[in-house]
Amino acid sequence: MANVLTVEHLTKKFAGLTAVNDLSFTMKERTIHSLIGPNGSGKSTTINMCTGSLPITSGTVKYRDEIISGRVLHEVASRNIGRTFQNLKLFGSMTVEENLMVGMQAQMKDGILKFLVSPASAKAEEKRANERAMEVLDYIGMYKYRNETVANLAYGQQKLTELGRSIMTAPKLLFLDEPAAGLNPSERVEFVKILLKVFDDGIDLFLIEHNMDVVMNISNYITVINFGSKIAEGTPKEIQNNDEVIAAYLGSQFKKK
Ligand SMILES: Nc1ncnc2c1ncn2[C@@H]1O[C@H](COP(=O)(O)OP(=O)(O)OP(=O)(O)O)[C@@H](O)[C@H]1O
Ligand SMILES: [Mg+2]
Repeated sequence: MANVLTVEHLTKKFAGLTAVNDLSFTMKERTIHSLIGPNGSGKSTTINMCTGSLPITSGTVKYRDEIISGRVLHEVASRNIGRTFQNLKLFGSMTVEENLMVGMQAQMKDGILKFLVSPASAKAEEKRANERAMEVLDYIGMYKYRNETVANLAYGQQKLTELGRSIMTAPKLLFLDEPAAGLNPSERVEFVKILLKVFDDGIDLFLIEHNMDVVMNISNYITVINFGSKIAEGTPKEIQNNDEVIAAYLGSQFKKK
């Protein structure tokens, strides 16, 4: 299988702090690849650099055969790469449906220009976005909530709304930053089912997640970082039995014979 993501010597320095330190790894096509590690170890910073949300200090990120590091957010997004954020970035006072439609428009960089030049084609685009929103809402089981104001929804439904927004443009690779954080056990089971459906339908998943039941059950491959540096990589079984990972992050409760 081809590499969908190739990260080489990726480094991010904030004033006085190296958040990501010379990180290299590859992600294969048709896998769920997880990035785990303690709080503050550089996971979100890694995703932010891969998706063009944050400039890199040094190193490269390749999506399939193309170097995407150095490109900005909408350029990365237009290469069929989507993401969710660790902290919900939904518009609380807008409806579920509107939040999904915004997700599509955010990736149409010439949206406003198009509207000025040709209001008719902008209208047609809005209609398409609306149809796509209905399709996605049905897909994630949120159709009945489409007209609810997001702030009034349960947290689990808000997380689903964000997932829905991230798949509006039908990405091929999706970065998920703690998508199941804060969900109760039954919401989590429901969420994982939908994630697996998304994966089965052809979207490769790069996942940051602290819930080890989720990580160990659905990942094909795991990269572990600590203080910005890679300390291990392998299958869930290999990671659960890696002494350095157990010492730095997992504890021994996940050790499997
Ligand atoms: N914009 C920023 N400016 C300065 N320091 C930052 C910035 N963003 C992150 N950091 C620091 O970089 C380090 C890595 O942060 P990051 O958010 O990537 O960690 P994380 O692994 O995602 O942690 P968590 O599991 O808590 O989400 C932390 O020490 C953090 O305080
Ligand atoms: Mg984080």
